Amino acid sequence: MENATYLARRRQLEVYFDRTASDAWAKLTAEGPVSRIRASVRAGRDQMRATLLSYLPDDLRGQRVLDAGCGTGALAVEAARRGAEVVAIDLSATLVSLAKERLPAIDGPGSVEFRVSDMLDPSLGRFDFVVAMDSLIHYRAHDKVEMVARLAERANRGVIFTFAPRTFLLTLMKLAGSVFPRGDRSPDIEPVREATLRKLLAAHPSLAGFGAGRTKRIDSTFYKSQAFELKRTEDPSRQLTP
Ligand SMILES: C[S@@+](CC[C@H](N)C(=O)[O-])C[C@H]1O[C@@H](n2cnc3c(N)ncnc32)[C@H](O)[C@@H]1O
Repeated sequence: MENATYLARRRQLEVYFDRTASDAWAKLTAEGPVSRIRASVRAGRDQMRATLLSYLPDDLRGQRVLDAGCGTGALAVEAARRGAEVVAIDLSATLVSLAKERLPAIDGPGSVEFRVSDMLDPSLGRFDFVVAMDSLIHYRAHDKVEMVARLAERANRGVIFTFAPRTFLLTLMKLAGSVFPRGDRSPDIEPVREATLRKLLAAHPSLAGFGAGRTKRIDSTFYKSQAFELKRTEDPSRQLTP
């Protein structure tokens, strides 16, 4: 994807996750003690990961799954434990090498192959499911939807992703600058209203064969994100808009 806004944001995210915040991210995604704020974020993220995993079949044997923006790899590991052949990809070489170090032995047929690259790299091939947990939230709404569409073109069954819902409260918190302590700030999150997201998804030609499935908002004090399921559907009456 060649949009200037996408490329600029991707570069910022690579620098942020690979250098600025890689230690903080390593701690947040490990099991040790963390500050009260980070504990709240960690609990919200655990809930979100469980939600996204609940949208995948229990038995993933024979299924190819892309963990798009895998970070330190927790979701990839859980999908592999269910038997999936997972490709886990991230821009950050530092986080991917940490994910490789943390990779436990997987019993059964599942596997994880970690890669450092752009999740939109077409050479990754086709997948049954693509999952993107909090890896699209920093991109502008139009870029986010274009990313979902590119991922969907390679997904036989579905794309499961998260977005930051634009709510009155979040807008206020953003204005007050209190979503995250200053030192931890990543490039801005780009919240989007659910209705706007649905409209943009419904208007995208590459998503004509997809319908909206489950959605769930996780809303803890310091973690606000919403899961969204897009499923390939044969039924033309299934709409993306409510
Ligand atoms: C907020 S972290 C979430 C990581 C992981 N999904 C999790 O929930 O633990 C976002 C991750 O997405 C990655 N990312 C952002 N844009 C990406 C892109 N275009 N291709 C691959 N990875 C990307 C970042 O490097 C970062 O590791």
